[in-house]
Amino acid sequence: MPHVTLLPFLLSALLLPHLTSGQSWSPSWNTTVPTCNTTTPLPTVNLTNHLALTPPMGWSSWNYFGPDINETLIKSTIDAMLTNGLHAAGYIYINLDDGWQRYKGRRSSHPLEVDPVKFPSGMKSLADYAHTHGFKLGIYSGPGEKTCAGYTGSAGHAREDAEMFASWGIDHLKYDSCCSHASAPQSEVQSVMLDMSTALLATDRGIVFHACHCGWTDIWTWAAEIGANQWRIGQDISDDFNYPGNREKYYFDVLDMLDRGANLTQYTGPGHWNDYDMLIVGLNGESKQLVGTGASNVEYRTHFSLWSIVCSPLLIGSDIRSLSAYDLATLTNSDIIALNQDPLGIPAELVAEVGETQIYAKEMADGSMGIALLNRGSATADVTMSPRRDLTIPWDVYKMRDLWKGKDLGPYDIPFTVEVQPHEARVYRMWKCAPA
Ligand code: GLA
Repeated sequence: MPHVTLLPFLLSALLLPHLTSGQSWSPSWNTTVPTCNTTTPLPTVNLTNHLALTPPMGWSSWNYFGPDINETLIKSTIDAMLTNGLHAAGYIYINLDDGWQRYKGRRSSHPLEVDPVKFPSGMKSLADYAHTHGFKLGIYSGPGEKTCAGYTGSAGHAREDAEMFASWGIDHLKYDSCCSHASAPQSEVQSVMLDMSTALLATDRGIVFHACHCGWTDIWTWAAEIGANQWRIGQDISDDFNYPGNREKYYFDVLDMLDRGANLTQYTGPGHWNDYDMLIVGLNGESKQLVGTGASNVEYRTHFSLWSIVCSPLLIGSDIRSLSAYDLATLTNSDIIALNQDPLGIPAELVAEVGETQIYAKEMADGSMGIALLNRGSATADVTMSPRRDLTIPWDVYKMRDLWKGKDLGPYDIPFTVEVQPHEARVYRMWKCAPA
């Protein structure tokens, strides 16, 4: 989505008066957010940074460590990813989430600085370490006076902060509205996100921009237009596959997030991605930060399959240094990752549903199809997939590869049936066979 009409937001950010506190909605940035007049006809501007042409892959500190992060942890995570195969599998972003900042409290009381105790060598030195080892370094901030965990935010200093991030060698920014105000007016969120997006573009560094607003204000309909490369489609994930309702009336589990994205596939593609939130594979209910009691190996594998096939960013959220062999095998499956990193960037659609079983399918650049057969239920089920009926493609003879068993199957000239365990996804790639 390279050329867009966005100057209404840009001009309003620059020209229009700021809100004052005491309004019905009270965001943490409420003393600095300008109002927006989105009706003024203005020329178009290209805000594309040409980054994230496939979904970003890497690690983020939040899901396991919360704000309890430091230089030693980050360096040892990088070192572990070099030896355990994750770097080779394509996980290159090392994203520091909230907690790297020196001060808690409002920006007006504190400057934005790196915590010298947690990061004694400074952020530039850490970025150098990441780059030297073939990684990219991401950082976290937000438009308010405070971030979600209470650290100093940007609060009207987007240009200054973007320049500082660029001077450190930062490659990715998660800019978080702080998800506590679902009723924030869309124009206000657009305005503060646009401020940072334009500030990043004005630097001499390519910085992937994650506009994080917990899937509110229909962010998928406008985030690419203000230059975002990814945006969360929902509230925070919990470490659960299928918790009844929303844990603590807030969190989304794996199936909630999957369902949330089902009608949003048109908004995702190269350079601009629906973000289903960071992975929970390997948390096992032991996170220092996330709520949830954990999932089984099969459920974590299903979660990874689904995030891959819908083209979500793949940001591992567990402690990389203590992943089990099973989790590493899950996260490094190159056939599954290929579904996610396909250059067409077409996300899987839900194409068929029978009882508690579903079929998701996506087109791949080589003309093949990626397919996930999901059993959401608690009883083993047979799932049958017919190319003509379910995928509406005239493939009378086809072959398959079972991506978790690493086994080639077929050719077949009849519908394909397989037994799927509870909460399992059987994942395949399917090619048309030439007529004999
Ligand atoms: C919000 C986000 C999380 C994390 C925290 C940090 O809750 O949704 O992903 O970034 O803020 O404080």
